[in-house]
Amino acid sequence: MKQRCFSDCHLSEKLLYTGFLILMGTGYLMALSYLYETHQGDDGKPGLSVEDIVDTYYGNRSGTRLEAAIRGPMADFILKVNDRHEIVAWLKDAAPRKAYTDTILPILKKSCLHCHSPASGLDIPDLSTYEGIKKVANVDTGESLLTLVKLSHIHLFGIGLVALGIGFIFRLTILNNWLKATLIVLPFLAVFADILAWFLTKWDPIYAYTVLTGGALLAFAWAGQILISLYQLWFLRAPKEPG
Ligand code: HEC
Repeated sequence: MKQRCFSDCHLSEKLLYTGFLILMGTGYLMALSYLYETHQGDDGKPGLSVEDIVDTYYGNRSGTRLEAAIRGPMADFILKVNDRHEIVAWLKDAAPRKAYTDTILPILKKSCLHCHSPASGLDIPDLSTYEGIKKVANVDTGESLLTLVKLSHIHLFGIGLVALGIGFIFRLTILNNWLKATLIVLPFLAVFADILAWFLTKWDPIYAYTVLTGGALLAFAWAGQILISLYQLWFLRAPKEPG
């Protein structure tokens, strides 16, 4: 049986495919630029890098914002060296509530609260309550597992359907069978690896490279499928009937 190809399609079918491919291609470019804008510079440097990906999923576990502040810009406000030791020890001890009230609050009262409480009117972390200080006393471990589960199910459903749509059109191209099969299966594999790697990166930052590779392979496969399809839809002559 002769395989159906684009030259067997009526004009309206060609227009349907073309519209879908252009819309999906544009949507994908939008998604990429959104990704770039929201994650570039997470690590404090411009441009999207492996470090930004690590920051998103693994977090910055080198310390808390509070510790960084009292060793850096807020260091001058610490009146006694021992006060700093107390705060650092409390942070290392996972910042418990009771010790906050007993030992930390008195230190903050004399050194910090005239700025760091709602009364000051400044838009800076409120250290006068436990809930307030907790926001800067937690080690940043990246996106929570729940957020990742939420993001991944949306991505899996959405990308799966788009990959089905694009692949459904692309299967009508005239191409070497192996190349065609590879390009068709690649988006599914790439997205699977990519999303699995979000979770793995939470555990070990090395998997940020897998996230990046998965994303690049998806882009490659979709660009290939869309461009080849669009070309053959409009520029490929009907192959001669055998015989
Ligand atoms: C004179 C007012 C003032 C005092 C006193 C002060 N701070 Fe601050 N603090 C600021 C301002 C303003 C900022 C925001 C600007 C910045 O981040 O440099 C800030 C920012 C911070 C931050 C947030 C840093 C971040 O990662 O965004 C922390 C944590 C902090 N201060 C802790 C402290 C501690 C602890 C003390 C007491 C030892 C203290 N500050 C004393 C004015 C003050």
